[in-house]
Amino acid sequence: MSKLDICKVSLGINSYKIFIGKDIHRSITNYISNYKTYSSTIVISDKNIYEKNSLLFKKYLKKEIEFELIILPQGEKIKSFKYLEFIIEKILKLEIDRDTLLICIGGGVLGDLVGLASSLVLRGLDFIQIPSTLLAQVDSSVGGKTGINSKYGKNLVGSFKQPKSVIISTDILKTLKKRDIKSGYAEILKYSFINDKKFFNWLVSNGKKVISLNTESCIYAIKKSCTIKSKIVSKDEKEKGMRELLNFGHTFGHVIESVTGYKDKIKHGEAIFIGMYLAIKFSILLKICKKDVLEKYSCHLKNLKINHKLSSYNIKISPERFLQHMKFDKKVKNSKIKLILIKDIGVPVRLFVEDEKLLSNFLKNELK
Ligand code: GLY
Repeated sequence: MSKLDICKVSLGINSYKIFIGKDIHRSITNYISNYKTYSSTIVISDKNIYEKNSLLFKKYLKKEIEFELIILPQGEKIKSFKYLEFIIEKILKLEIDRDTLLICIGGGVLGDLVGLASSLVLRGLDFIQIPSTLLAQVDSSVGGKTGINSKYGKNLVGSFKQPKSVIISTDILKTLKKRDIKSGYAEILKYSFINDKKFFNWLVSNGKKVISLNTESCIYAIKKSCTIKSKIVSKDEKEKGMRELLNFGHTFGHVIESVTGYKDKIKHGEAIFIGMYLAIKFSILLKICKKDVLEKYSCHLKNLKINHKLSSYNIKISPERFLQHMKFDKKVKNSKIKLILIKDIGVPVRLFVEDEKLLSNFLKNELK
């Protein structure tokens, strides 16, 4: 068996482990506790993952478990009421019972949908996450947020439903495009900024290796990211306080995604790179952060050939529209926008924007 790293999400009876290794998706029952007690197993994936990982579906899984397979189309469109109904009906048709296990093999979009379905079917089935993108491995597969989009916005319908375990293989990332790997790297960089300066310094020296999927560096970065997220989620599962820190760069970033319609024009991580850049710059404007933090951030991304300016993506958003969208964010309270800002690398701060004019002028300057 290849080397195995483990981190734990501590949530009382809902605690679970995240297993990280090079190719551990080839022997998943080692990482599902009491697998034999489940009455049946349903594996859910999407067309793209299924086609790109035929060995996994046709050899490794078959060798180990008996399962029914549900394949969904790829893309954000499946995070909808239509596909939630579709997947639930498909599951129910398989004559399941409360001891049926769902295994989700896919990226964040699929994980969010399957997680939500697993919390609803028969009032809750156990589920396992096998994330297939770097973004899902370091973020969405961990922490139990599930959801679909509504016409009123992204992720507005969902639940907290923790998986029974998360099985992360770095080999599964090999079929990804470089652009998607870089997009996942945004969340890794985020963890360093909100929690760990030493980790940032490590990324400065090793970021290129992570992006080129060097196994050892990748496993280190994934484990570090999952450990930071697990610590935060263990203290604040339902996002009543410190879990908000995980949204560093996201309040600005979500505006960009929302305006562009969550299309391929900009990936989630790319929007977060821009969002973190704006959050650092705004922190400097508020005089809570030193200028060299921005220099370090920009220099690191330049080294990795990652753009962090909106203009590089050919996207134009008026400052008025940008601010308007920021006001739709879930963290707005009493019509005040709450931002996750930064005092220094590793030292985040949650702040309500008291002077909206200041933010509006900042956006005018940044978006011209
Ligand atoms: N992706 C942010 C969170 O899980 O809270």
